[in-house]
Amino acid sequence: MSTGRRLWAYAATLPAHLLGGLAGALLAGACQLLLVLYAKPLLDNATNAAGVSVDGLVRVTISIFIFGVGISVGELAYMYLLDYVAQGVVLNMRGDLFRHLQALSLGFFEDASTGALVSRATNDLSVIQTRLNNDLAALLRQPVMIVGLLVGILVLSSWQLMAFTLLVGGAMLPVINFTSARMKLHTAQIQESLADLTAHLTESLGGIRVVQSFGASEHEIARFEADNRATRRAMMRAVRVRAVLRPLLHLISIVGLILLLVAGGWLYSQGLATMGDIGLVLASVPTLSGAFKDFGRARLAWAETMAASERVFELIDTAPDLVDAPDAVDLGAIEGRLEFRNTGFHYRTGSDVLTDIDLHIEPGQMVALVGASGSGKTTLANLVPRLYDVTAGALLIDGHDVRAVTRASLRAQIGIVPQ
Ligand SMILES: Nc1ncnc2c1ncn2[C@@H]1O[C@H](COP(=O)(O)OP(=O)(O)O)[C@@H](O)[C@H]1O
Ligand SMILES: [Mg+2]
Repeated sequence: MSTGRRLWAYAATLPAHLLGGLAGALLAGACQLLLVLYAKPLLDNATNAAGVSVDGLVRVTISIFIFGVGISVGELAYMYLLDYVAQGVVLNMRGDLFRHLQALSLGFFEDASTGALVSRATNDLSVIQTRLNNDLAALLRQPVMIVGLLVGILVLSSWQLMAFTLLVGGAMLPVINFTSARMKLHTAQIQESLADLTAHLTESLGGIRVVQSFGASEHEIARFEADNRATRRAMMRAVRVRAVLRPLLHLISIVGLILLLVAGGWLYSQGLATMGDIGLVLASVPTLSGAFKDFGRARLAWAETMAASERVFELIDTAPDLVDAPDAVDLGAIEGRLEFRNTGFHYRTGSDVLTDIDLHIEPGQMVALVGASGSGKTTLANLVPRLYDVTAGALLIDGHDVRAVTRASLRAQIGIVPQ
């Protein structure tokens, strides 16, 4: 399932809020559209050679008021409801991530850097938490506005003016597409370097005793500084994209406005357009430009959300490598007969630690393992609660292979005192 669909699936767990929020965004978009389109009847009435119609003026004024209220109500609804949904999405994603981490094996955590894992649960989720919000309503509201505006100009005015307006809008879309694609890339880089930074921080602080004993503080500071600067560089790339988008759209809209005024003026001089048409153009262009800016900003936020979500989902999707067998049974109350049968073991990275261990331990028997440091005592003990799977032979408790029973029923009957 694509990242967008997965986010959508999370949001769909709150259908009432989601639908209410989307309806609010549609209402606000539609009312804003009607408000702009009313510029034409208003101006045509005011410049009517036959005189101003007071009735018409009152009708228009009341309508404008109603649309204004519609925008407010729609905004209130979507701002609250869509943020409610967004926070629900974050709540569930974070919960799923933590639940998944709990299911992963000890081997996984030894291979992965704790800092990088923590970074996904904090830095990446916080990007989602801040970017996934009601600003994204613009992704629905503004296209409604933009398409409606074009149709409105076509119906109320002329196809020529509509075509010009379409041209202006058409020039903005590629700019938005390009910048949001860049933004997704940059966000992934930012999150990657933040993960490095967090990993470094966790390692350095976790090993602070070693760092200080060996007088390695200066070395650690220099290393941290390098990561720190890399993060800033990645961040600045995103800042540049964000800084350039709005002014660029603004520039396009100014050029567009000039072109539209020239075209409108010419149409007017030819008797092909009324003063209302020109008013409609004047009202439309800033609205159109505002709509595209709003839409563009939402696209950037969406790109950031997607980049961070991909990283979170990637972690949620790592398959646990040590799971209960599909037909695993409950171990039941055990007596405690332990049998290592030709047992062998090696860590993922490394040579054999245990080979051909044959060991029987009877219930109630007390056994001490004695050996040099690094000879494999802890490793042997860790096989019993199945923190690791044997890589050769088998390990049985009361005749049950530990891989054939559920881990919960096995571990519930083992006591461990860590060193
Ligand atoms: N998580 C691990 N990953 C890779 N190698 C390990 C890991 N833990 C221990 N080892 C290696 O396995 C061997 C046995 O270690 P261990 O069982 O801790 O010995 P002991 O408890 O007898 O001191 C050692 O060579 C050690 O370096
Ligand atoms: Mg040990």
